[in-house]
Amino acid sequence: MDNSVANKSKNYTFFQNIERAKLFAKDPLGFQKKSFEEEGDCYYLKLGPKKIFVTRDAGVFAQVLQLNHKNYTKDFAMHQLSMALGNGLLTNDGESWLHQRRLAQPAFHKKRLEGMLGLMYEIALEHIKDLKSRTNHTSTFIDQEMMALTSDIAIQTLLGMKKNEELIYMQKSFVDIQEHIVKRIRRPFFIPLSYINGSHGKATTLIKSYDKIIYKIIDEKEKNPGENDLISMLLASRDEDTGEGMSKKQLRDELITIYVAGHETSGYTLSWAFYAISQNKEIYNKIKEEVKPIFEEGFNGIESIKKLVYTRQVVDETLRKYPTAYILSRQCKANDKTDDVEIPGDYVVLLSTFYLHRNTKFWKDPEVFDPERFGENGDKEAIRKAYYPFGGGPRMCIGNNFALWEITLVLAMMMYHFDFEYVENQKIEFQPLVTLKPKYGIQLNLKPIN
Ligand code: HEM
Repeated sequence: MDNSVANKSKNYTFFQNIERAKLFAKDPLGFQKKSFEEEGDCYYLKLGPKKIFVTRDAGVFAQVLQLNHKNYTKDFAMHQLSMALGNGLLTNDGESWLHQRRLAQPAFHKKRLEGMLGLMYEIALEHIKDLKSRTNHTSTFIDQEMMALTSDIAIQTLLGMKKNEELIYMQKSFVDIQEHIVKRIRRPFFIPLSYINGSHGKATTLIKSYDKIIYKIIDEKEKNPGENDLISMLLASRDEDTGEGMSKKQLRDELITIYVAGHETSGYTLSWAFYAISQNKEIYNKIKEEVKPIFEEGFNGIESIKKLVYTRQVVDETLRKYPTAYILSRQCKANDKTDDVEIPGDYVVLLSTFYLHRNTKFWKDPEVFDPERFGENGDKEAIRKAYYPFGGGPRMCIGNNFALWEITLVLAMMMYHFDFEYVENQKIEFQPLVTLKPKYGIQLNLKPIN
Protein backbone atom coordinates (compact mmCIF):
# COMPACT_ATOMS: atom_id res chain seq x y z
CA MET A 1 0.00 0.00 0.00
CA ASP A 2 1.47 3.34 -1.05
CA ASN A 3 0.38 5.54 1.82
CA SER A 4 3.38 7.78 1.52
CA VAL A 5 1.72 10.78 -0.07
CA ALA A 6 0.39 12.38 3.11
CA ASN A 7 3.58 11.38 4.94
CA LYS A 8 5.76 12.96 2.27
CA SER A 9 3.97 16.23 2.91
CA LYS A 10 5.50 16.30 6.36
CA ASN A 11 8.97 16.33 4.80
CA TYR A 12 8.53 19.82 3.41
CA THR A 13 9.37 22.78 5.59
CA PHE A 14 7.15 25.85 5.74
CA PHE A 15 9.47 27.71 3.34
CA GLN A 16 9.73 24.76 0.94
CA ASN A 17 5.93 24.66 0.78
CA ILE A 18 5.82 28.37 -0.08
CA GLU A 19 8.47 27.89 -2.77
CA ARG A 20 6.56 24.93 -4.28
CA ALA A 21 3.29 26.90 -4.26
CA LYS A 22 5.03 29.73 -6.12
CA LEU A 23 6.46 27.35 -8.75
CA PHE A 24 3.04 25.72 -9.19
CA ALA A 25 1.32 29.09 -9.67
CA LYS A 26 3.95 30.24 -12.18
CA ASP A 27 4.17 27.11 -14.33
CA PRO A 28 1.59 24.47 -13.32
CA LEU A 29 2.41 22.02 -16.14
CA GLY A 30 6.20 22.31 -15.70
CA PHE A 31 5.84 21.89 -11.93
CA GLN A 32 3.65 18.82 -12.37
CA LYS A 33 6.08 17.21 -14.83
CA LYS A 34 9.03 17.64 -12.50
CA SER A 35 7.08 16.45 -9.46
CA PHE A 36 5.76 13.32 -11.20
CA GLU A 37 9.28 12.49 -12.38
CA GLU A 38 10.72 12.94 -8.89
CA GLU A 39 7.90 11.62 -6.69
CA GLY A 40 5.93 9.10 -8.79
CA ASP A 41 2.31 9.12 -9.96
CA CYS A 42 0.95 10.91 -6.85
CA TYR A 43 2.36 13.78 -4.84
CA TYR A 44 1.38 16.34 -2.28
CA LEU A 45 1.25 20.13 -2.51
CA LYS A 46 0.25 22.87 -0.11
CA LEU A 47 -1.30 26.00 -1.64
CA GLY A 48 -1.73 28.46 1.22
CA PRO A 49 -4.26 26.81 3.55
CA LYS A 50 -5.25 24.19 0.93
CA LYS A 51 -3.87 20.64 1.03
CA ILE A 52 -3.66 19.21 -2.46
CA PHE A 53 -3.13 15.68 -3.74
CA VAL A 54 -2.02 15.63 -7.40
CA THR A 55 -2.17 12.45 -9.46
CA ARG A 56 -1.69 10.87 -12.89
CA ASP A 57 -2.67 7.42 -11.56
CA ALA A 58 -5.38 5.74 -13.66
CA GLY A 59 -6.80 3.88 -10.63
CA VAL A 60 -7.35 7.15 -8.75
CA PHE A 61 -9.11 8.68 -11.78
CA ALA A 62 -11.53 5.72 -11.87
CA GLN A 63 -12.03 5.80 -8.08
CA VAL A 64 -12.76 9.54 -7.89
CA LEU A 65 -14.86 9.96 -11.03
CA GLN A 66 -16.71 6.67 -11.06
CA LEU A 67 -16.29 3.97 -8.43
CA ASN A 68 -16.67 6.15 -5.32
CA HIS A 69 -17.78 9.45 -6.87
CA LYS A 70 -20.17 10.17 -3.98
CA ASN A 71 -17.12 10.71 -1.76
CA TYR A 72 -16.07 13.71 -3.86
CA THR A 73 -17.62 17.12 -4.38
CA LYS A 74 -16.67 20.01 -6.61
CA ASP A 75 -13.93 21.97 -4.88
CA PHE A 76 -12.60 25.45 -4.13
CA ALA A 77 -11.61 25.99 -7.81
CA MET A 78 -15.18 25.35 -8.95
CA HIS A 79 -16.51 27.69 -6.26
CA GLN A 80 -14.26 30.40 -7.69
CA LEU A 81 -15.52 29.64 -11.19
CA SER A 82 -19.11 30.02 -9.98
CA MET A 83 -18.36 33.74 -9.60
CA ALA A 84 -18.93 33.86 -13.37
CA LEU A 85 -20.95 30.72 -14.07
CA GLY A 86 -23.28 30.89 -11.07
CA ASN A 87 -24.88 27.59 -10.18
CA GLY A 88 -24.83 25.99 -13.65
CA LEU A 89 -24.20 22.29 -14.34
CA LEU A 90 -20.42 22.51 -14.16
CA THR A 91 -20.23 24.14 -10.72
CA ASN A 92 -23.42 22.81 -9.11
CA ASP A 93 -23.44 19.77 -6.77
CA GLY A 94 -25.67 17.21 -5.05
CA GLU A 95 -29.44 17.01 -5.53
CA SER A 96 -29.64 20.40 -7.22
CA TRP A 97 -27.04 19.29 -9.85
CA LEU A 98 -28.88 15.99 -10.48
CA HIS A 99 -32.17 17.83 -10.94
CA GLN A 100 -30.63 20.24 -13.47
CA ARG A 101 -28.74 17.47 -15.30
CA ARG A 102 -32.02 15.58 -15.79
CA LEU A 103 -33.70 18.69 -17.19
CA ALA A 104 -30.82 19.43 -19.59
CA GLN A 105 -30.05 15.86 -20.73
CA PRO A 106 -32.78 15.56 -23.41
CA ALA A 107 -31.35 18.62 -25.17
CA PHE A 108 -28.11 16.67 -25.77
CA HIS A 109 -29.73 13.48 -27.03
CA LYS A 110 -27.88 12.11 -30.11
CA LYS A 111 -30.97 12.19 -32.33
CA ARG A 112 -31.55 15.84 -31.51
CA LEU A 113 -27.91 16.69 -32.13
CA GLU A 114 -28.11 14.97 -35.51
CA GLY A 115 -30.74 17.53 -36.41
CA MET A 116 -28.24 20.32 -35.69
CA LEU A 117 -25.53 19.06 -38.05
CA GLY A 118 -26.96 20.85 -41.09
CA LEU A 119 -26.91 24.19 -39.28
CA MET A 120 -23.38 23.53 -37.98
CA TYR A 121 -22.27 22.85 -41.56
CA GLU A 122 -23.87 26.09 -42.83
CA ILE A 123 -22.28 28.21 -40.09
CA ALA A 124 -18.84 26.68 -40.76
CA LEU A 125 -19.22 27.17 -44.52
CA GLU A 126 -20.10 30.82 -44.08
CA HIS A 127 -17.05 31.31 -41.89
CA ILE A 128 -14.83 29.49 -44.40
CA LYS A 129 -16.10 31.67 -47.28
CA ASP A 130 -15.30 34.78 -45.27
CA LEU A 131 -11.86 33.40 -44.36
CA LYS A 132 -11.14 32.64 -48.03
CA SER A 133 -11.83 36.27 -48.88
CA ARG A 134 -9.28 37.37 -46.26
CA THR A 135 -6.43 34.93 -46.94
CA ASN A 136 -4.27 33.93 -49.86
CA HIS A 137 -1.20 32.14 -48.65
CA THR A 138 -1.11 34.61 -45.79
CA SER A 139 -0.26 33.98 -42.19
CA THR A 140 -3.40 33.49 -40.09
CA PHE A 141 -3.89 32.94 -36.37
CA ILE A 142 -5.84 29.70 -36.63
CA ASP A 143 -6.73 29.72 -32.91
CA GLN A 144 -8.53 33.06 -33.25
CA GLU A 145 -10.41 31.82 -36.31
CA MET A 146 -11.45 28.60 -34.58
CA MET A 147 -12.56 30.39 -31.41
CA ALA A 148 -14.69 32.79 -33.46
CA LEU A 149 -16.21 29.87 -35.37
CA THR A 150 -16.99 27.64 -32.36
CA SER A 151 -18.40 30.66 -30.52
CA ASP A 152 -20.65 31.31 -33.49
CA ILE A 153 -21.77 27.66 -33.60
CA ALA A 154 -22.54 27.77 -29.85
CA ILE A 155 -24.45 31.04 -30.16
CA GLN A 156 -26.60 29.85 -33.07
CA THR A 157 -27.21 26.21 -32.14
CA LEU A 158 -27.39 26.56 -28.38
CA LEU A 159 -28.65 30.09 -27.83
CA GLY A 160 -30.64 30.22 -31.08
CA MET A 161 -29.25 33.71 -31.83
CA LYS A 162 -27.33 35.31 -34.69
CA LYS A 163 -23.88 36.66 -33.86
CA ASN A 164 -23.95 40.36 -32.93
CA GLU A 165 -21.67 42.96 -31.36
CA GLU A 166 -22.95 42.28 -27.82
CA LEU A 167 -22.24 38.56 -28.09
CA ILE A 168 -18.75 39.15 -29.53
CA TYR A 169 -18.09 41.45 -26.57
CA MET A 170 -19.29 38.71 -24.20
CA GLN A 171 -16.90 36.17 -25.74
CA LYS A 172 -13.93 38.54 -25.48
CA SER A 173 -14.69 39.69 -21.94
CA PHE A 174 -14.70 36.14 -20.67
CA VAL A 175 -10.96 35.83 -21.36
CA ASP A 176 -10.28 38.67 -18.85
CA ILE A 177 -12.66 37.20 -16.29
CA GLN A 178 -10.97 33.82 -16.66
CA GLU A 179 -7.52 35.25 -15.97
CA HIS A 180 -8.88 36.87 -12.81
CA ILE A 181 -10.51 33.64 -11.61
CA VAL A 182 -7.44 31.50 -12.37
CA LYS A 183 -5.31 33.90 -10.30
CA ARG A 184 -7.74 33.50 -7.38
CA ILE A 185 -7.49 29.70 -7.66
CA ARG A 186 -3.70 29.44 -7.95
CA ARG A 187 -2.78 32.25 -5.58
CA PRO A 188 -5.30 32.23 -2.71
CA PHE A 189 -3.44 35.19 -1.15
CA PHE A 190 -4.46 37.21 -4.20
CA ILE A 191 -8.15 37.05 -3.17
CA PRO A 192 -8.08 39.74 -0.42
CA LEU A 193 -5.67 41.81 -2.54
CA SER A 194 -8.02 41.68 -5.54
CA TYR A 195 -10.68 43.56 -3.53
CA ILE A 196 -8.19 46.36 -2.81
CA ASN A 197 -6.47 46.73 -6.19
CA GLY A 198 -9.72 46.92 -8.13
CA SER A 199 -9.36 43.75 -10.18
CA HIS A 200 -12.31 42.04 -8.45
CA GLY A 201 -14.48 45.10 -9.08
CA LYS A 202 -13.49 45.09 -12.76
CA ALA A 203 -14.38 41.40 -13.13
CA THR A 204 -17.78 41.80 -11.44
CA THR A 205 -18.61 44.78 -13.67
CA LEU A 206 -17.84 42.64 -16.73
CA ILE A 207 -20.00 39.82 -15.39
CA LYS A 208 -22.90 42.24 -14.78
CA SER A 209 -22.62 43.49 -18.34
CA TYR A 210 -22.85 40.05 -19.86
CA ASP A 211 -25.70 39.19 -17.48
CA LYS A 212 -27.69 41.99 -19.11
CA ILE A 213 -27.05 40.42 -22.52
CA ILE A 214 -28.10 36.94 -21.41
CA TYR A 215 -31.28 38.12 -19.65
CA LYS A 216 -32.21 40.05 -22.78
CA ILE A 217 -31.87 36.85 -24.84
CA ILE A 218 -34.00 34.92 -22.32
CA ASP A 219 -36.74 37.58 -22.46
CA GLU A 220 -36.75 37.49 -26.27
CA LYS A 221 -36.91 33.68 -26.32
CA GLU A 222 -39.78 33.65 -23.83
CA LYS A 223 -41.76 35.79 -26.27
CA ASN A 224 -40.63 34.00 -29.45
CA PRO A 225 -39.44 30.46 -28.68
CA GLY A 226 -37.24 28.79 -31.33
CA GLU A 227 -37.78 25.27 -32.61
CA ASN A 228 -34.54 23.45 -32.04
CA ASP A 229 -32.26 25.61 -29.90
CA LEU A 230 -31.19 24.65 -26.42
CA ILE A 231 -32.50 27.77 -24.70
CA SER A 232 -36.05 27.17 -25.97
CA MET A 233 -35.84 23.55 -24.80
CA LEU A 234 -34.67 24.58 -21.35
CA LEU A 235 -37.40 27.24 -21.15
CA ALA A 236 -40.01 24.58 -21.93
CA SER A 237 -38.58 21.93 -19.55
CA ARG A 238 -40.67 21.07 -16.49
CA ASP A 239 -39.88 19.16 -13.30
CA GLU A 240 -41.65 15.77 -13.46
CA ASP A 241 -42.88 15.99 -9.85
CA THR A 242 -43.70 19.65 -9.35
CA GLY A 243 -44.36 20.73 -12.94
CA GLU A 244 -42.24 23.83 -12.29
CA GLY A 245 -39.86 25.31 -14.86
CA MET A 246 -36.37 26.74 -14.29
CA SER A 247 -36.09 30.13 -12.64
CA LYS A 248 -34.60 32.91 -14.80
CA LYS A 249 -31.46 32.96 -12.67
CA GLN A 250 -30.99 29.19 -13.07
CA LEU A 251 -31.55 29.49 -16.81
CA ARG A 252 -28.95 32.29 -16.98
CA ASP A 253 -26.45 30.08 -15.11
CA GLU A 254 -27.04 27.06 -17.39
CA LEU A 255 -26.78 29.13 -20.57
CA ILE A 256 -23.59 30.91 -19.62
CA THR A 257 -22.10 27.58 -18.47
CA ILE A 258 -22.98 25.77 -21.67
CA TYR A 259 -21.80 28.66 -23.83
CA VAL A 260 -18.45 28.91 -22.01
CA ALA A 261 -17.92 25.13 -21.58
CA GLY A 262 -19.09 24.49 -25.11
CA HIS A 263 -17.02 26.76 -27.33
CA GLU A 264 -13.62 27.38 -25.79
CA THR A 265 -12.78 23.69 -25.32
CA SER A 266 -13.79 22.92 -28.92
CA GLY A 267 -12.02 25.99 -30.35
CA TYR A 268 -8.71 25.17 -28.70
CA THR A 269 -8.98 21.45 -29.55
CA LEU A 270 -9.31 22.43 -33.21
CA SER A 271 -6.32 24.78 -32.87
CA TRP A 272 -4.12 22.03 -31.40
CA ALA A 273 -5.30 19.62 -34.11
CA PHE A 274 -4.14 22.06 -36.82
CA TYR A 275 -0.81 22.47 -35.06
CA ALA A 276 -0.28 18.66 -34.87
CA ILE A 277 -1.31 18.13 -38.50
CA SER A 278 0.95 20.95 -39.69
CA GLN A 279 3.91 19.04 -38.21
CA ASN A 280 3.27 15.78 -40.07
CA LYS A 281 2.85 15.57 -43.84
CA GLU A 282 1.70 11.92 -43.77
CA ILE A 283 -1.22 12.69 -41.45
CA TYR A 284 -1.99 15.86 -43.45
CA ASN A 285 -2.21 13.89 -46.73
CA LYS A 286 -4.24 11.08 -45.20
CA ILE A 287 -6.97 13.47 -43.98
CA LYS A 288 -6.98 15.27 -47.34
CA GLU A 289 -7.55 11.95 -49.09
CA GLU A 290 -10.43 11.07 -46.77
CA VAL A 291 -12.32 14.37 -46.90
CA LYS A 292 -12.19 15.01 -50.67
CA PRO A 293 -14.80 12.45 -51.88
CA ILE A 294 -17.08 13.17 -48.90
CA PHE A 295 -17.48 16.88 -49.66
CA GLU A 296 -17.40 16.40 -53.43
CA GLU A 297 -20.46 14.17 -52.98
CA GLY A 298 -22.10 16.89 -50.86
CA PHE A 299 -22.52 17.00 -47.08
CA ASN A 300 -25.10 14.51 -45.86
CA GLY A 301 -25.37 15.02 -42.09
CA ILE A 302 -24.60 12.09 -39.84
CA GLU A 303 -23.89 9.81 -42.84
CA SER A 304 -20.94 12.04 -43.82
CA ILE A 305 -19.72 12.27 -40.23
CA LYS A 306 -19.65 8.45 -40.02
CA LYS A 307 -17.36 8.33 -43.06
CA LEU A 308 -14.82 10.68 -41.49
CA VAL A 309 -13.12 7.78 -39.71
CA TYR A 310 -9.48 8.87 -39.92
CA THR A 311 -10.31 12.54 -39.26
CA ARG A 312 -12.07 11.41 -36.07
CA GLN A 313 -8.96 9.42 -35.04
CA VAL A 314 -6.96 12.64 -35.43
CA VAL A 315 -9.47 14.42 -33.16
CA ASP A 316 -9.27 11.63 -30.56
CA GLU A 317 -5.47 11.77 -30.61
CA THR A 318 -5.57 15.58 -30.29
CA LEU A 319 -7.72 15.18 -27.18
CA ARG A 320 -5.13 12.74 -25.80
CA LYS A 321 -2.02 14.79 -26.41
CA TYR A 322 -3.61 18.22 -25.95
CA PRO A 323 -6.59 17.69 -23.61
CA THR A 324 -8.16 21.14 -23.36
CA ALA A 325 -9.70 20.11 -20.01
CA TYR A 326 -6.16 19.37 -18.80
CA ILE A 327 -6.98 19.03 -15.10
CA LEU A 328 -10.04 18.06 -13.03
CA SER A 329 -10.48 18.85 -9.36
CA ARG A 330 -12.54 17.49 -6.51
CA GLN A 331 -12.78 17.89 -2.72
CA CYS A 332 -12.34 14.50 -1.03
CA LYS A 333 -14.84 14.08 1.86
CA ALA A 334 -13.50 11.02 3.70
CA ASN A 335 -10.36 8.84 3.51
CA ASP A 336 -10.48 6.64 0.46
CA LYS A 337 -8.19 4.13 -1.27
CA THR A 338 -7.58 2.14 -4.41
CA ASP A 339 -5.56 -1.11 -4.51
CA ASP A 340 -2.33 0.90 -4.53
CA VAL A 341 -3.01 4.41 -3.29
CA GLU A 342 -4.50 6.06 -0.21
CA ILE A 343 -6.42 9.28 -0.82
CA PRO A 344 -6.46 11.43 2.31
CA GLY A 345 -9.86 12.67 3.44
CA ASP A 346 -9.42 16.40 3.73
CA TYR A 347 -7.49 16.95 0.49
CA VAL A 348 -8.37 18.57 -2.81
CA VAL A 349 -7.66 15.94 -5.47
CA LEU A 350 -6.20 17.26 -8.73
CA LEU A 351 -6.59 14.71 -11.52
CA SER A 352 -3.93 15.60 -14.08
CA THR A 353 -5.52 14.50 -17.35
CA PHE A 354 -2.62 16.07 -19.27
CA TYR A 355 -0.08 13.77 -17.60
CA LEU A 356 -2.30 10.68 -17.40
CA HIS A 357 -2.56 10.97 -21.18
CA ARG A 358 1.25 11.02 -21.32
CA ASN A 359 1.84 8.34 -18.68
CA THR A 360 4.29 5.77 -20.12
CA LYS A 361 2.69 3.02 -17.99
CA PHE A 362 -0.16 3.11 -20.51
CA TRP A 363 0.94 5.02 -23.58
CA LYS A 364 3.86 3.99 -25.80
CA ASP A 365 5.95 7.01 -26.90
CA PRO A 366 3.32 9.44 -25.55
CA GLU A 367 5.05 12.50 -27.00
CA VAL A 368 4.48 11.15 -30.52
CA PHE A 369 1.24 12.32 -32.16
CA ASP A 370 -0.15 9.10 -33.65
CA PRO A 371 -3.84 8.84 -34.68
CA GLU A 372 -3.37 5.07 -35.22
CA ARG A 373 -3.67 4.63 -31.44
CA PHE A 374 -7.41 5.15 -32.03
CA GLY A 375 -7.60 2.92 -35.13
CA GLU A 376 -8.80 -0.66 -35.40
CA ASN A 377 -5.51 -2.07 -34.13
CA GLY A 378 -5.05 0.74 -31.65
CA ASP A 379 -4.26 0.96 -27.99
CA LYS A 380 -7.60 -0.32 -26.63
CA GLU A 381 -6.41 -0.91 -23.07
CA ALA A 382 -4.84 2.54 -22.72
CA ILE A 383 -8.01 4.12 -24.10
CA ARG A 384 -10.17 2.18 -21.64
CA LYS A 385 -8.02 2.87 -18.58
CA ALA A 386 -6.10 6.08 -19.16
CA TYR A 387 -8.11 8.36 -21.44
CA TYR A 388 -10.41 10.97 -19.86
CA PRO A 389 -10.71 13.98 -22.22
CA PHE A 390 -14.36 14.47 -21.22
CA GLY A 391 -14.01 13.36 -17.58
CA GLY A 392 -15.94 10.25 -16.49
CA GLY A 393 -18.77 8.84 -14.38
CA PRO A 394 -22.00 10.75 -13.75
CA ARG A 395 -20.32 14.17 -14.19
CA MET A 396 -18.93 13.33 -17.60
CA CYS A 397 -19.21 16.14 -20.14
CA ILE A 398 -22.84 16.49 -21.26
CA GLY A 399 -21.69 17.98 -24.59
CA ASN A 400 -19.19 15.27 -25.64
CA ASN A 401 -21.10 14.09 -28.73
CA PHE A 402 -21.83 17.65 -29.76
CA ALA A 403 -18.12 18.48 -29.41
CA LEU A 404 -16.78 15.40 -31.22
CA TRP A 405 -19.09 15.90 -34.21
CA GLU A 406 -18.48 19.63 -34.34
CA ILE A 407 -14.67 19.32 -34.18
CA THR A 408 -14.54 16.44 -36.71
CA LEU A 409 -16.81 18.33 -39.12
CA VAL A 410 -15.01 21.68 -38.89
CA LEU A 411 -11.58 20.04 -39.20
CA ALA A 412 -12.68 18.06 -42.27
CA MET A 413 -14.23 21.13 -43.92
CA MET A 414 -11.12 23.25 -43.33
CA MET A 415 -8.92 20.47 -44.75
CA TYR A 416 -11.14 20.33 -47.84
CA HIS A 417 -11.20 24.09 -48.42
CA PHE A 418 -7.58 25.04 -47.61
CA ASP A 419 -4.01 23.92 -48.07
CA PHE A 420 -1.80 25.09 -45.24
CA GLU A 421 1.71 25.19 -43.86
CA TYR A 422 3.16 25.92 -40.45
CA VAL A 423 4.69 29.41 -40.15
CA GLU A 424 8.30 28.85 -39.10
CA ASN A 425 10.01 30.57 -36.15
CA GLN A 426 6.92 31.06 -34.00
CA LYS A 427 6.76 30.23 -30.32
CA ILE A 428 4.27 27.50 -29.38
CA GLU A 429 3.62 27.26 -25.66
CA PHE A 430 0.83 26.09 -23.39
CA GLN A 431 -1.10 28.62 -21.32
CA PRO A 432 -3.08 26.49 -18.88
CA LEU A 433 -5.99 28.74 -17.87
CA VAL A 434 -9.41 27.15 -17.26
CA THR A 435 -8.68 25.35 -20.55
CA LEU A 436 -5.40 24.67 -22.37
CA LYS A 437 -4.76 27.72 -24.51
CA PRO A 438 -1.89 28.22 -27.00
CA LYS A 439 -0.12 31.10 -25.26
CA TYR A 440 1.04 33.04 -28.32
CA GLY A 441 -1.53 31.60 -30.72
CA ILE A 442 -0.83 29.26 -33.67
CA GLN A 443 -0.06 30.72 -37.09
CA LEU A 444 -0.57 28.88 -40.37
CA ASN A 445 -0.15 29.99 -43.97
CA LEU A 446 -3.56 29.35 -45.47
CA LYS A 447 -4.17 28.90 -49.19
CA PRO A 448 -7.81 28.60 -50.31
CA ILE A 449 -8.61 25.64 -52.60
CA ASN A 450 -11.93 24.05 -53.72
C1 HEM B 1 -13.47 19.35 -26.81
C2 HEM B 1 -14.53 19.82 -26.20
C3 HEM B 1 -14.87 19.57 -24.76
C4 HEM B 1 -14.09 19.07 -23.75
C5 HEM B 1 -12.64 18.63 -23.82
C6 HEM B 1 -14.92 19.04 -22.57
C7 HEM B 1 -14.49 18.55 -21.34
C8 HEM B 1 -15.30 18.44 -20.23
C9 HEM B 1 -14.92 17.78 -19.00
C10 HEM B 1 -13.59 17.12 -18.73
C11 HEM B 1 -15.97 17.88 -18.15
C12 HEM B 1 -16.05 17.29 -16.73
C13 HEM B 1 -15.59 18.29 -15.70
C14 HEM B 1 -15.49 17.67 -14.31
O1 HEM B 1 -15.72 16.48 -14.13
O2 HEM B 1 -15.15 18.41 -13.38
C15 HEM B 1 -17.01 18.61 -18.82
C16 HEM B 1 -18.24 18.95 -18.26
C17 HEM B 1 -19.19 19.69 -18.91
N1 HEM B 1 -19.18 20.07 -20.23
FE1 HEM B 1 -17.72 19.71 -21.59
N2 HEM B 1 -16.15 19.55 -22.87
C18 HEM B 1 -16.18 19.87 -24.20
C19 HEM B 1 -17.24 20.38 -24.90
C20 HEM B 1 -18.46 20.70 -24.37
C21 HEM B 1 -19.60 21.19 -25.12
C22 HEM B 1 -19.63 21.36 -26.64
C23 HEM B 1 -20.58 21.47 -24.21
C24 HEM B 1 -21.97 22.01 -24.42
C25 HEM B 1 -22.51 22.20 -25.58
C26 HEM B 1 -20.07 21.13 -22.90
C27 HEM B 1 -20.75 21.30 -21.72
C28 HEM B 1 -20.35 20.77 -20.50
C29 HEM B 1 -21.13 20.85 -19.27
C30 HEM B 1 -22.47 21.56 -19.11
C31 HEM B 1 -20.41 20.17 -18.28
C32 HEM B 1 -20.83 19.94 -16.83
C33 HEM B 1 -21.55 18.59 -16.79
C34 HEM B 1 -22.01 18.17 -15.39
O3 HEM B 1 -21.25 18.29 -14.42
O4 HEM B 1 -23.13 17.68 -15.30
N3 HEM B 1 -18.79 20.66 -23.03
N4 HEM B 1 -16.59 18.92 -20.09
